[in-house]
Amino acid sequence: MNTFARIAGTGSYLPEKVLTNKDLEAMVDTTDQWIRERTGIVKRHVAGEGQTTCDLAEQAARRAIEAAGRQVDDVDLIVLATTTADKIFPSTACLLQQRLDIHGCAAFDVQAVCTGFVYALGVAEKFIRTGSASCALVVGAETFSRIIDWSDRGTCVLFGDGAGAVVLEAADEPGILSTHLHADGAYENLLHVPGGVSRGFDVDDAEGDPRYTHMKGNEVFKMAVNTLGRIVDETLQANDMKKSDVDWLVPHQANIRIINATARKLNMAMDKVVVTVDQHGNTSAASVPLALDVAVRDGRIRRGEVLLLEAFGGGFTWGSVLLRY
Ligand code: ACO
Repeated sequence: MNTFARIAGTGSYLPEKVLTNKDLEAMVDTTDQWIRERTGIVKRHVAGEGQTTCDLAEQAARRAIEAAGRQVDDVDLIVLATTTADKIFPSTACLLQQRLDIHGCAAFDVQAVCTGFVYALGVAEKFIRTGSASCALVVGAETFSRIIDWSDRGTCVLFGDGAGAVVLEAADEPGILSTHLHADGAYENLLHVPGGVSRGFDVDDAEGDPRYTHMKGNEVFKMAVNTLGRIVDETLQANDMKKSDVDWLVPHQANIRIINATARKLNMAMDKVVVTVDQHGNTSAASVPLALDVAVRDGRIRRGEVLLLEAFGGGFTWGSVLLRY
């Protein structure tokens, strides 16, 4: 019999500290109105001093394990997507494993920026389908605020911190119907943090401080809209499905205008699209599992419904997951 992978439970966590658009008005030359109209964002959460990506991941992971009706001991794989690891090494997945007092199972990080969780889900699903794991903890967690220049109005209004997680378990029926993962590294310079361990953090970069996120927002926006439109077609074709077969769109929460464009491509009414970007801005790898958890817990998403998860981010990377919840 074939083994499939299904989501058994979801969890998420946002740090306590909140930065509203009004707060940002006092920090950079921007307005609440500009941020709402151009992005849909109202507020974002920011990790407290000393609070790390692993701290956020742990909260989301424990909630997902509880929702799945599982124990930490059941977990036999941890895949954690992040751009903002606690340490250069060990991986944040290994730090999370230690926190949860799990010993021995494979644990590793995946780095695909905002597409990170979709990548992590795609990887974990392969482990389960090949019989290498039967209960995977898949996490997207970020302290993106640490790689933001808080004096750059072009980026600081967009991002926030958070974590989301799912428990993915082996099942006789799908579950995950298909995963579609893509990248094109040719677009490196449109969205990046120029510095790094190997290049160093004092590289001469015309754009500004190499420790922080630099983005050509307008060009990224156009690429995101076009690419996400294409991946909707690719995903439906691969499953021989029609647009109307999708019950819920759970998109990467970067900008309400990008989400609206993808919904239009699916002919989907906005009440079938999970939108949380207003509440936490772009939390990068955490955004898709955060949105999923919100809509599962408030009862909108029900068992048996078909969900399309999609994301686009630095790399560029992009991807989708079609699943029966
Ligand atoms: N407040 C006020 N004005 C601003 C702000 C701000 N916070 N930021 C920029 N502006 C100004 C610009 O300077 C520009 O002024 P000018 O016309 O005088 O030059 C004007 O607003 C318009 O700027 P644009 O960049 O053209 O504005 P746009 O409508 O494209 O919105 C935004 C900018 C919100 C960044 C949008 O381009 C966007 O969302 N891009 C995609 C982001 C994204 O999805 N990233 C992918 C994932 S992120 C990841 O992987 C890490």
